Amino acid sequence: MRIPFIAGNWKMNMTCQSGIKLVEAISEGMGDTDVEVAVCCPATLLHSIHDALKHTDIKLGAQNMHWEDSGAFTGEISADMLKEAGVSYVILGHSERRQIFGETDDQIHMKLKKAFQKLLTPILCIGETLEEREAERMNEVLETQLQKNTETVTPEEAAKMVVAYEPIWAIGTGKTATPDQAAEAIGLIRKWLSSKYGDTISEQIRILYGGSVKPENTTEIMESEDIDGALVGGASLKAEDFIGIINF
Ligand code: 13P
Repeated sequence: MRIPFIAGNWKMNMTCQSGIKLVEAISEGMGDTDVEVAVCCPATLLHSIHDALKHTDIKLGAQNMHWEDSGAFTGEISADMLKEAGVSYVILGHSERRQIFGETDDQIHMKLKKAFQKLLTPILCIGETLEEREAERMNEVLETQLQKNTETVTPEEAAKMVVAYEPIWAIGTGKTATPDQAAEAIGLIRKWLSSKYGDTISEQIRILYGGSVKPENTTEIMESEDIDGALVGGASLKAEDFIGIINF
């Protein structure tokens, strides 16, 4: 049984003050739920948000991490630093990191391995561009990302990871993939995971959809058997919207 998972990706938004207000409003408003909830906030907010989440069931996530333990890597943050801040989840390979900051599949693979080694749960993001989709290359793109990003990931590690399918054309554009499009891609991802790791493992891996998720389209998206939750950008910045998504 996979527990539904809704994670907010704040991206480069919020300050300590506004972030604390937001998580307080979310935890007050969401009520009892069987859904697992996490907020992935900017690095400078992690300690404060961790404190604010202490008496709640909401988990803390980060948005990126370096693959080395320490060293001369100006501007980077290590797994131990995230652990110290109380982080449980770390988003890896977000399309904004891949596209704007040039992260490669190899780097994402190394980050994934480090996260497992340090007992952080990675949320591995994959997805195709509009161009790739229109050229009917979606399958190939997703399979290549999966193959390279999980290259030496063991079955035991894979069982613990979360995968987020985020079609790049649906991120921040207001264009959501139709439930059928999301289900098709996520079905393909689970099939690939099953061919590499076997049915038992692939059935344990939670696969989320991300891209313009809102309270109004969450129910539809969550209807697909293979979709276990959502990675939410813009709508995770407003308590009312995020609560609406959690209580879909
Ligand atoms: P939006 O929900 O703003 O489209 O962002 C999706 C996303 O990138 C989550 O990681």
